[in-house]
Amino acid sequence: MQDKPTPPRHIAIIMDGNGRWAKGRGLPRTVGHKAGAENFRKIATYCKNIGVKYLTVYAFSTENWKRSEVEVSAIMTLLKRYLLEAVDSMERDRIRLHFFGDMTPISPELRALARETDGISGRLAADDFQANVCLNYGGRDELLRAARRFAADCAAGRRYPNELDETLFSSYLDSAGIPDPELIIRPGGEQRLSNFLLWQCAYAELYVTDTLWPDFGERELDQAIAAFQRRDRRFGGVKESET
Ligand code: IPE
Ligand code: IPE
Ligand code: MG
Repeated sequence: MQDKPTPPRHIAIIMDGNGRWAKGRGLPRTVGHKAGAENFRKIATYCKNIGVKYLTVYAFSTENWKRSEVEVSAIMTLLKRYLLEAVDSMERDRIRLHFFGDMTPISPELRALARETDGISGRLAADDFQANVCLNYGGRDELLRAARRFAADCAAGRRYPNELDETLFSSYLDSAGIPDPELIIRPGGEQRLSNFLLWQCAYAELYVTDTLWPDFGERELDQAIAAFQRRDRRFGGVKESET
């Protein structure tokens, strides 16, 4: 049997298709979100086991507030349940948990849980597996928040506009200190980023599959990684054989 290809260090997933998955079964959309949350647990564990270092998942976008109150609160309840579980298990499983996004409009209860998981993550080793959950996240919002904070630092005399370069700007983003994802996977078939990781996606390989997120299993992830390994990543250069 062939060895599995070495996985990318950082994989990002747009967890899309929960609603269609439920609808296809004649079930309410919220049931699809529950199945999606269960799949996240499974795929995060699998990523950790195969040696992926960072997994960033899009759980709720700055645009997802447009959905019904019932759907939004079902998603928040699932997140709360996940965080309660994580508080009990992440130290044992050596999983660090981090949030990307503007947490201000998130309920105080969820924010307190996120602070708790942050505290536990801080006690784990820096090279332990890290899951980043994007919650009330939008790539444009992240860039604006970063720009505002940099401007405030300049106004306070802590920074100078001329010293701003890609490295310094990256340190103001939610993803500060985390390498860019090499691979972005979108289940659910849509060929767009929907405001996900707009800065970090610059040279990410994109992989879209029609499989809906609750059905996206370990074999599908293996296939995505294998496809990634076959890509020719040139980063704007030319291959030596073509010079
Ligand atoms: C992704 O699944 C989850 C969130 C956006 C919160 P969707 O709920 O968008 O599922 P579809 O795209 O309607 O099938
Ligand atoms: C993207 O999915 C956001 C998440 C998966 C959290 P959407 O379902 O919101 O994206 P669009 O509306 O199809 O672009
Ligand atoms: Mg969708």
